Parts: sequence; C-alpha cells; structure tokens
Amino acid sequence: MSRIPESTIHEIRNRGDIIAMVSRHVELKQAGRNWKGLCPFHNEKTPSFNVNSERQIFHCFGCQEGGDIIAFLMKHDGLTFPEAARNLAGELGIEIPEERDGQDAGLTTRIYEANQLTQDLYREALRTPEGKIARAYLVSRGFDGAIADEYGIGFAPARWDAVAVRLRENRIKGDVGVQAGLTSERKSGQGYYDRLRGRLTFPIEDVRGRVIGFGGRALEADQEPKYMNTPESPVFHKRQALYGYPAALEHIRRAGRVILCEGYFDRIAFARAGMAEALATCGTALTPDHGAQLRRRAREVVLIFDGDKAGQAATEKALAVLLPHGLRIRAALIPGGADPDDYLNKEGAEALKQLVDKAPDALELTIRNAMRHGVASPDQKADVVAHIAPLIARVSDAVSREEYMRRLSMAVDASPAAVGTIVRDAVRGSKETPQVDGSSLGLQRNRRDQPEDRQLRGLARLCLQRPDLLSDETALSLNEIIPAGAWKSIILEIIEAAGEGLLLPGEGHGVDPFVIETRLDEESRLRLREIAVDDTPFDSERSAEQVLDDLVSWFQRRGLDVRQRELNRKMRDPNADQDALLAEKQAQLQERRARMGVGNVSEKDSRNNGSQ
Ligand code: UTP
Ligand code: MN
Repeated sequence: MSRIPESTIHEIRNRGDIIAMVSRHVELKQAGRNWKGLCPFHNEKTPSFNVNSERQIFHCFGCQEGGDIIAFLMKHDGLTFPEAARNLAGELGIEIPEERDGQDAGLTTRIYEANQLTQDLYREALRTPEGKIARAYLVSRGFDGAIADEYGIGFAPARWDAVAVRLRENRIKGDVGVQAGLTSERKSGQGYYDRLRGRLTFPIEDVRGRVIGFGGRALEADQEPKYMNTPESPVFHKRQALYGYPAALEHIRRAGRVILCEGYFDRIAFARAGMAEALATCGTALTPDHGAQLRRRAREVVLIFDGDKAGQAATEKALAVLLPHGLRIRAALIPGGADPDDYLNKEGAEALKQLVDKAPDALELTIRNAMRHGVASPDQKADVVAHIAPLIARVSDAVSREEYMRRLSMAVDASPAAVGTIVRDAVRGSKETPQVDGSSLGLQRNRRDQPEDRQLRGLARLCLQRPDLLSDETALSLNEIIPAGAWKSIILEIIEAAGEGLLLPGEGHGVDPFVIETRLDEESRLRLREIAVDDTPFDSERSAEQVLDDLVSWFQRRGLDVRQRELNRKMRDPNADQDALLAEKQAQLQERRARMGVGNVSEKDSRNNGSQ
C-alpha cells in the first residue's frame, strides 16, 4: 500500500471533527471549553475523559490515553495509523493521492474494483434460478436469505465465464482479473475463465471493508477441494488476512477479546450466537503477522478449533505463534470432535457461549492434553516436559513464565529446578540439548555421530536460522541431493514453513520451529528441538552463505560417490552392458570435474558445519 502524504494527514486533522467522532461512541457533556464523558478505554463511573474541540484532542485523566482524531479511531477501532487515516479520509471525502512505492497503485485500485464487481455478481447469482443449488445448500445448513445477505454469502455460477464476462463488461482488463485471482488465462491464450465455479462464496474483506479475496465451498459431494480460496494477490496476503472483518472490529473492542476459529461457517456461527468478535483464518496456518495484528486489537484471544486431533494440533500451533505477542490466550476444544458450527446447530447459542466464556488457559489445557498419555514413568514425564517447555519459553512475560514452570512441575510431579532449567535452556536457546538430571527426566542423548548425520544436522540448523538464504533454486537442489530420512523431512518442512513466512518475530527472523513441530513425527520432532536450542556459531571464518554452499557441495559429492560405488559394483558383473556402464562412468567423471570448480570442500573442513 502506498504512503499517505503528510499534507493529506494535515487535512484530515483539520477537517475532521473530534467531538462528532467521539460522540458516536461516548456520551459527551460540555464542561467549560472541554467536553466530558465516560472513558471508552477503561472502566469508570465518573467521567475523566476529556475532549477539547479547539485543539482537536482527547485526553483521559484516568488512564492517560490521549491524542488526536486519528489516534482516537486507531485506539477505538483497533486500526493501524494508515488504516485509521484512510477511513477518515474516506468519510471526509478527502482524496488520498497515491504516492507509489514500487507497486502500481492503479493496479491495486483496479483489483479492488474487480473484487467488488465479482462480489456483486456472486450475490446476484445466489438469487437467480441457477443459484438454486446454493440456496438449497444454505437451507440445509440452517441459513435463510436474510442471514446469507448479512454475511455477503454468494454463489459462483457453475459456468466458465460468469466473472470473466462481468469484468469485461465493466472494462476491467483481463489481466486485472487474473492478478486479482478471480480468473485464469485460457491455455490457448484466447480469453479468460473463472477460478471459482459452482461454489458457495464467502467474501474475505480487509478492516476497511474492501473485498480482498473469496473462499468458495463445494456444493456437491464429488467436488474437490471442499474449499477453494482465491490465491494470493497484491491485495490478498494470506499471512495477514482474517475472515470476519470489518464487522468484528467493533465487537472485538467492546468484548476486549478475539475468538479465533478455523472456518468461514464457524466464524459465522459465533456471530450468529452473539459473538461477532470472532475471526477465522482463511485456510492457512496462523502466522506471526496475524499475532501482531490481534495484539493491536485485543488483549485476549480465545482459540476455538475443531475438537478432533487436528484441532488440538492446530491449537498448539496457534498457541506457539501467539504466545510471544504477550496475549492472554485461552482455548477450548469442541466436545465430541465437532466444530463450532456443528456445535451451535446441535447445542444452541448458549452452549457455545458457555464454551467460550469458560475456556481454560490455553497453556494449562495443553499441559493437561500432553499428560493424557500418562506421566507415571520418568520417560513419560520427560516427554511432557520436553513438549511443553518450548511453549513456556515463548511466554513473553517473565513472571507468567515462572508461574507456568511451577504449574508444569507440579502437574508432572517433577522437581521445579529440573523443569526450570529445561525451560530456561529453551529460552536462551542454550548451547546444549536440554538435559537436566537425565535419570529423573530421561531425555534422550544425541545418537549417532557420523559425518553425514553431522552435516545433515548442520544443514537443518542453518536452514532453520537463515531461511533468507533459501532461494527457490537452493530449495529445489536440496530436495534432490539430501538422502531420504528424518533430517530430510525436517529440512523440507523448514523450507516449506519459510516459504509460508512462518518466522519468529523480532530480530534474525529464523523459521519458527514450533509451528513445524506438529507436522513431524516424534523422532524428527526431537531432532528439531535439538537444533532449535542450539545456537553455537556456524563458523567464525566463513559467512553463512559459504557454509551453505559448502554443505550443498558436500551432499552433491556424496551423491556422486554413492553413484560411483553403485557403478563399480555393476562393472564387476560380467553380464552387464559394459558400453552403457562406460558411458555412465564418463558422465560421472564430467559431473565431478564440473563440481570441482564450485566450493569443493574436504571432509576435514566441513567438520565445523554441524554442532558438535
Ligand atoms: P474444515 O474442513 O474444518 O471445514 O476446514 P469446515 O469449516 O467445518 O467447513 P464445513 O462446515 O464442512 O463447510 C476449515 C477451514 O479450512 C479451510 C477453509 O478455510 C475452511 O473453512 N479449508 C478446508 C480449505 O482451505 N480447503 C479445504 O479443502 C478444506
Ligand atoms: Mn463445519
């Protein structure tokens, strides 16, 4: 998004009327030159919230909040500065000149236009005869026309060019529809076809109410996938988008919390049950960007995911992403493996509300879940502690962190000192694998220490810490040259997470190990944890880029060695086709020579790559 020029900000401040704006939300009474009311930002019975019309500022003597009209809107609606400024500008009819910052502002505007035209089309289509199938489906899920209308639900006609034609009729260039993710270009290069066809549609909007993308639900049993979303576009960034805006904003502010769920229907279920402060992820994992955004808008997040195994894993993943942001996090799993929408239909609004209001602390819930497998043996205790420690390590506040450590040690009946050390190790990213009192906690020690294992471990650690080095090209070649096994699956998950932008907040931006943990099997998980807490420097003399290059070469050479051994074995076989084998030998020699040029690294040099 382009920057808003300083002069426009001035104009917004000058033309805006802070008394009128505040009056929408606070009952103000004139008192001398000031206007007074009950502060909307803290609880009070006598008014200490002042607004000064002359200076166009507000100030609360109770909670010290204050600022100009833009600050009020930011604070009140949980908006960022540009969001608030743009909202006000829109209201005051102030045009914001698009200062381009690399991106074509004209294109973005066109994309919003295309999205809105498509939204209009989808809504109309729900009412036409061809939309009958979608209407029937809605009825089967307990929706009537009014509810569908309220949430902007529509129908993407089961035709190839409903959207394409609508855009063309409105003089939107075909290319814009493609960039918006609404259409695709035909293979023939002749025209465009619609991406969503024969689906129920949910508009995904930004906080300003602009349509940025769509989710489309299948209407027939054999229609795959069940949900198809429009792809990333210049206005649809999946690592930031959440479904439920802008309606949720006001409710979030009032409730002081966000209910976070995983589906479009689930978000609507909460809203229908009187909890419109709900937001849903749009078919992707929760990211640190989401975390930062939620923190700006609320202090508390309640995670309500499906009550099945996947839901539980998703809850832990979301918890790991949210904890560093200093949010208070509660969570509940829907009984019987259901999702919030099922639960509303079966048990009613009050039951769903109870579930949210009574949701326990998310970390406590996770500790309890982890203990389900038992905590009788030292190994089991160690497993629970090892599983929970990285989560506790992510709690941003030191006092709460200590408290969770105490609770964990009590829950598994382990010494607080042992648990404390493990957590602190995870916090510091200590040099050693967390190993406290091995007999009482029984954590596994490092196993094999062969050169290949060491190289793999070094490579995984490098990928984890420096995802910025992983170009598409490097990622592809790693996939080719790394031998299959646990390390390979770890490295591939790291690469994928890096691609999804699942990075740790703050400096360095390493890949967030916790969010990939849930995608790995137990053995890989343990290894991942080992490298995650290891922050010994890679090499004092070479740059990380060089270390990576050298590791890549090492594996390429190793691949060649394996092939050569295989070849030698075959050549000893008298029945083999010796000509073909000779040709292969030539090819290998050539490859080897070509390799020699690039970062050839000897076994001895490469020792330092891994952690010891
Ligand atoms: P679920 O599979 O839990 O579906 O996916 P749901 O929300 O309960 O949907 P209904 O009730 O069967 O209609 C949860 C969310 O995951 C994303 C969608 O955002 C969905 O709302 N999803 C699911 C996809 O993106 N693609 C899929 O194929 C499935
Ligand atoms: Mn559902």
